[in-house]
Amino acid sequence: MSGRSNTDVNCGVMLEDDENVRSSPVGAPTFGEVAAARMGRRGFLKGAMGTTAYAALAIAPASLLAACGQDAGDETTAAVEPARSPGSLPSFTEISHGVSTDHVVAPGYQADILIRWGDPVVADAPAFVPGSTDADAQEKQFGYNNDYVGFIPLNDDGSRGVLCVNHEFTSRDVMFPYDLRFNSPAELAEMEMAAHGGSIVEIARDADGIWTVVSDSNLNRRISTRSTVMNISGPAAGHVRMQTNADPTGTSVIGTVNNCAGGITPYGSYLMAEENFHFYFRGKLHDTDRQWETDSELAALCMAGEATHPEARNFCRYGVAMGRGYDWGRHFERFDINKEPNEANRFGWVVEVDPLDPASTPVKRTALGRFKHEGAESIINKDGRLVIYMGDDQRFDYLYRFVSKNTVNTDDRAANFGLLDEGTLSVARFSDDGSLTWMPLIHGQGPLTAENGFDSQADVMIETRRAADLLEATPLDRPEDVEPNPKTNKVYVALTNNSRRTPGQTDAMQDRGPNFWGLIVELSPPDDDHAADTFRWDILVKAGDPSVPQIGAKFSPSTSANGWFACPDNLAIDPSGRLWVTTDQGSGWSQTSGTADGVWALGTHGDQRGTSAMFYRVPAGAEMCGPCFTPDGETLFVAVQHPGTDGALAFEPHGRASTFEDPMTRWPDFDDATPPRPSVVAIRRQGGGPIG
Ligand code: FEO
Ligand code: CA
Ligand code: CA
Repeated sequence: MSGRSNTDVNCGVMLEDDENVRSSPVGAPTFGEVAAARMGRRGFLKGAMGTTAYAALAIAPASLLAACGQDAGDETTAAVEPARSPGSLPSFTEISHGVSTDHVVAPGYQADILIRWGDPVVADAPAFVPGSTDADAQEKQFGYNNDYVGFIPLNDDGSRGVLCVNHEFTSRDVMFPYDLRFNSPAELAEMEMAAHGGSIVEIARDADGIWTVVSDSNLNRRISTRSTVMNISGPAAGHVRMQTNADPTGTSVIGTVNNCAGGITPYGSYLMAEENFHFYFRGKLHDTDRQWETDSELAALCMAGEATHPEARNFCRYGVAMGRGYDWGRHFERFDINKEPNEANRFGWVVEVDPLDPASTPVKRTALGRFKHEGAESIINKDGRLVIYMGDDQRFDYLYRFVSKNTVNTDDRAANFGLLDEGTLSVARFSDDGSLTWMPLIHGQGPLTAENGFDSQADVMIETRRAADLLEATPLDRPEDVEPNPKTNKVYVALTNNSRRTPGQTDAMQDRGPNFWGLIVELSPPDDDHAADTFRWDILVKAGDPSVPQIGAKFSPSTSANGWFACPDNLAIDPSGRLWVTTDQGSGWSQTSGTADGVWALGTHGDQRGTSAMFYRVPAGAEMCGPCFTPDGETLFVAVQHPGTDGALAFEPHGRASTFEDPMTRWPDFDDATPPRPSVVAIRRQGGGPIG
């Protein structure tokens, strides 16, 4: 069944609310193509990195860089099976569209739960108690709603590794009994803070290919909003707008929120992207007691200058304290914008963590800008600099790129931990002629001056969106994951959907208004130079049911009735250089596709370009996140987020608003073989061998 979604709920977030904040300009001038030609393509780092950190942890450094499918080998000389050539369509028997209480994987494959909400992370973690609000216990257990998954191998055969998992948000209605949902004591807020953040766990694979958590590993760590102290570095660090009563230095903050996707850098750091940070703050931007019914009304008033909060212009653009969200500010002053006006400026960044040093302090890298970071996937450019691609996931927001000033140090791993503090952040302007121009966000250049409220580079980074508005970046249909393919140097951008784009706002790339289904755009850097000023762009697929002409979808005609998808979100490149796509249709799944979210393989080259096939399906109400391949391509980790919630009422066997709505039947509904709790699932081929 196909049709339209009237309400967009993705990432468990009511986008009807926050998207109205948007006011970026539309229209961009055409730029000429840039002729750039430099050195030949440089592969990912090979060989030994600095060994000090690993030696201290008794870790072999061998294949550190081969994380999340990024092959440490040289693809120009490696033997490549024809069926697994870069850009080809992986081979498997595809599953059908559908929705069910359990997950479903392609025939011949096995999907096993590796770790779930409440499972032990650190060695002394207490047993999981359903409905508990014990924050101390939660901070030792796997958090809620797992989104990003990264993997860093710890030995040469890849049978041991570190799994890095983001815990994006909490779902109060399915986590706690009725009384706690409505009474909202401070202990509930603390529990929610404890369930946010990330988990780092060592895992090991046995001879049968089955992964388990190494429960006593000294690498196992929980990162939370509640207690994990983080440093702030880069251009905004220490600025007066980053200072609070608790931190007059503006360089230290407790916790991270709404960690959606992320990335593993080539030197083995874990990037946690802070996405919808605005939901966690409450208070008044105005000096009246008037309550606004809708966010759009409030946003209009914000922009009209009625707001009185010192950070009003900034907060209006991000939607801080402008809609429904967490009520932590009732119990903790730092989440109240009237008591702590700058705390919200300390969220919305990319956090860098060293997962191989559990005592290390995570760092918020402000040079990567402040916005609703979906992810932060990176590639080493051919000149040795690190390039990070990032989407700002909101309707009509932008695509960004960070290019480090210095090159990746292949001899000293530790030396790379300042790499993300210096470099150039740029925002994309797409032109209808197929070109893309990267516009640097540098204080003093163009409109980014004191006249427009930017007194320093710190101001540009704190108000990245407003700076990008002034540069006339191209408003996009919710840019989610952005994935560079190290085998081909193409870059894939998932634009998930945009119900608010009108027919009059369409352009050559985003030619559907409204766009309920999303699209995937392919970027081509000239001469494989990811730091170039101008790229080319092309549409890979326009999502939605291609058999319904009014939808305007575009897949290869080879795509089956089960092969098409709607609302692409996370992307992954497997070790052979093939693209995989996961979806997040939100509560509108029954209208956008009629199938649960899942994993699809998608050909990008040759005859298979634009052909997709369905590989895995989540249980009803879940979102599919975190696709991550091991370097040998034999395991695909996926994150099943919020099972039983999104659009669960449309799933007749449930017939209720959420899987766990009835507190008397919440837990007995499922056995341990199904993922009723948010879970990381490990998928492998029965009998072994690479996936697809
Ligand atoms: Fe948390 Fe935009 O997905
Ligand atoms: Ca997402
Ligand atoms: Ca990704």
